[in-house]
Amino acid sequence: FDVVDIIRAKRDQQELDPEQIAWVIDAYTRGVVADEQMSALAMAIFLNGLNRPELQQWTNAMIKSGVRLDFSKLSKTTVDKHSTGGVGDKITLPLAPLVSVFGVAVPQLSGRGLGHTGGTLDKLESIPGWRANLSNEEIFQMLDSGPGAVVCAAGADLAPADKKLYALRDITGTVDCIPLIASSIMSKKIAEGTASLVLDVKVGSGAFMKTQEQAAELARTMVDLGSDAGVNTVALLTRMDQPLGRTVGNALEVQESLDVLAGGGPEDIVELTVALAQEMLACAGKPDEDVAAALKDGRAMDQWRAMISAQGGDVDAPLPVAPCQHQVLAEDDGYVMCLDALQVGVAAWRLGAGRARKEDPVSAVAGVEIHAKPGEAVRKGQPIATLHADSDSRFDRALDTLEGAWTIGHDVPELPQSLILDR
Ligand code: URA
Repeated sequence: FDVVDIIRAKRDQQELDPEQIAWVIDAYTRGVVADEQMSALAMAIFLNGLNRPELQQWTNAMIKSGVRLDFSKLSKTTVDKHSTGGVGDKITLPLAPLVSVFGVAVPQLSGRGLGHTGGTLDKLESIPGWRANLSNEEIFQMLDSGPGAVVCAAGADLAPADKKLYALRDITGTVDCIPLIASSIMSKKIAEGTASLVLDVKVGSGAFMKTQEQAAELARTMVDLGSDAGVNTVALLTRMDQPLGRTVGNALEVQESLDVLAGGGPEDIVELTVALAQEMLACAGKPDEDVAAALKDGRAMDQWRAMISAQGGDVDAPLPVAPCQHQVLAEDDGYVMCLDALQVGVAAWRLGAGRARKEDPVSAVAGVEIHAKPGEAVRKGQPIATLHADSDSRFDRALDTLEGAWTIGHDVPELPQSLILDR
């Protein structure tokens, strides 16, 4: 095969054949196809798309670039959740232990944050001693005879083609493309070996998909890929126009998750955690469990403690706290009409909670604590947020980013009743 022919074909809106796709992904993974050639192909796909057979082949080729885990020998069924990424989205933290309460195994192979969306592993690493990297044997043992839920790093051998391609897309303006997002996410989830998968597809300013129509198309595309590969796949479309909960940042989000596991925490986090847990349990053939009760009575917290300590985390150690804090004050009296998720996400990132490049370190303590959310009354001069950072020098850029993030009006706003837009 000649990679230039393949690039030209996609540029000219022709359908790629299965052999071409299998070859180009394999050759790219082995370094035979160069980054600049794959960039051109990614841009041609961005502009001209992939049809269903092409996309299925593309996803299969990414799966085949690495290993496929096999949990079929476990004594219980497996179900995972994946979110397409949002601001303050810490749902995995209470959700994985909660679902495992009901005897279902949750293999949650996660990633790190890039850009303004946080990563689950970065959050958990703010717990002293917690270790993200496990061997495949350790993962199996955690699920089989251990707590039944495991949140850990996806190994280097899981869809390596995606690791290379995602980094390339990130620097070539080809991330926000439905077939490329769908194949990236689903190749990892299918390779992970989960029997069922619940997708939380985010819609709104803080998400990749800004409109419900786009999000629905992404959801449909991923559900088709999952179903075609024999994974029982369901998707919810959920709002991401304001941050989830009241914290954005690593240790701050762990603390808020602990509040939820202790039976409290913000209503929106509890709503989404319970809804996703119900979907996951339904996929696992247990649709009638009282999920909310397991948050209230401490069973989910017990699972959390077992899960974190099994990976070296000290569940009783205090979480780190930022040495520098700065309050943001309301500029007016009134009600918060909206709070822009993207601005808060970018501010947390600039405070040090996220990374600009893959190899950058993140701060455990940095982030934004939100005191006033949409629908709440504020008085001029009242703190509406506290910024947390390792150094005072971080505050100026974060404050610039937050300019206009809170819209304050005089009438009580009409807010949507539910985070869930569609299923
Ligand atoms: N998350 C992924 O894993 N891949 C994408 O392309 C986008 C979000």
